[in-house]
Amino acid sequence: MVASGRDEKRLSEFARRFGFDHATTDWREAIARADVELVDICGPNHLHAEIVEAAARAGKAAFCEKPLARDLAEAKGMLRAVEEAGVPHMMCFNYRFFPAIRLARELIRDGALGEIRQFHALYLQDWGLDPGLPLSWRMRKELAGSGALGDTAVHIVDLARYLVGEIAEVAGMLTTFIKERPLPDGSGMGEVTVDDAAAFLARFASGATGVFETTRVAAGRKNFMHLEVNGARGSIRWNAEDPNVLEFYSLDDPPRVRGFRRIVVTEPEHPWTGNWWPPGHGLGYEHSFVHAVYELLAALGEGRPPEPSFRDGVAAQAVLEAAARAAEERQWLPIER
Ligand SMILES: NC(=O)c1ccc[n+]([C@@H]2O[C@H](COP(=O)([O-])OP(=O)(O)OC[C@H]3O[C@@H](n4cnc5c(N)ncnc54)[C@H](O)[C@@H]3O)[C@@H](O)[C@H]2O)c1
Repeated sequence: MVASGRDEKRLSEFARRFGFDHATTDWREAIARADVELVDICGPNHLHAEIVEAAARAGKAAFCEKPLARDLAEAKGMLRAVEEAGVPHMMCFNYRFFPAIRLARELIRDGALGEIRQFHALYLQDWGLDPGLPLSWRMRKELAGSGALGDTAVHIVDLARYLVGEIAEVAGMLTTFIKERPLPDGSGMGEVTVDDAAAFLARFASGATGVFETTRVAAGRKNFMHLEVNGARGSIRWNAEDPNVLEFYSLDDPPRVRGFRRIVVTEPEHPWTGNWWPPGHGLGYEHSFVHAVYELLAALGEGRPPEPSFRDGVAAQAVLEAAARAAEERQWLPIER
């Protein structure tokens, strides 16, 4: 196992703590090693394409952080690279790996909500609120691609596709509230070239409607990802700040006791939970990554393609790109396939 980073001292400390056999400040060297079969791409967004393409050329499997790329063309190039090389590929859309999200998908697929009519997603954070926070790669378009849109809306777009299906068209609005920030080296101020907040309306291919909003400047909101799906026979809602609970409302319940029920999704019947704690003890953010990696390794071991794949990464990127363009052009736009 090889770790790569830029700061030699911090990297070797990291490698020691987490049991890596080797460490290198040159990621190319890591990919070239014969004992490396899988590359986990978790650097800033502008590095994803170069590393994925190098991994594909070397015949190594690729596991990539979200967003897949800075824009749709770059994402499509990455998909082409892994498909042409015939290497396994997986997106780290870790929110799919909460047991409550799996249950939500099953309820929707089993028809417990009836025809799905509306999807609502809010993803609010406040880490960008302090104007004194230095300009990082996340605030520069050439490094990040976009701001809150690619960083956080990408998760709710992926969950919308996972739960409700493909999005057909969007109309969007992007806003940059804090337009400049201190440069990290203290030499002055630098321009913020991405959005702090993004919102868009969507229509799914099924005819369902979607409302999406994300921001990094919502005071008091830390990782407030709130999803609600309404169907003809019921609704579900979930919040990432209370990840073990799925709320479910069903018209099939007798009217006298009808109401949103809180399902604590920790029984061993739910995916992965039986491998952790007794019921009710709860799983957290980190478990979603462990489950994603478990899926990756299980798929590789069984010789099947892991999911979600770079195809899902490209599909999410197409929605983000259409939302950004729709905002710029002030009109509804179809999603490119
Ligand atoms: N799935 C999620 O929920 C989730 C959460 C956070 C971040 N992310 C994604 O993970 C990626 C990284 O985000 P982050 O918050 O960890 O960023 P970060 O800036 O905190 O960390 C980036 C790391 O990349 C290393 N790096 C930069 N250039 C490098 C190079 N040339 N060679 C080797 N290492 C290099 C840095 O040293 C640093 O350790 C982004 O794509 C981000 O969108 C995903």
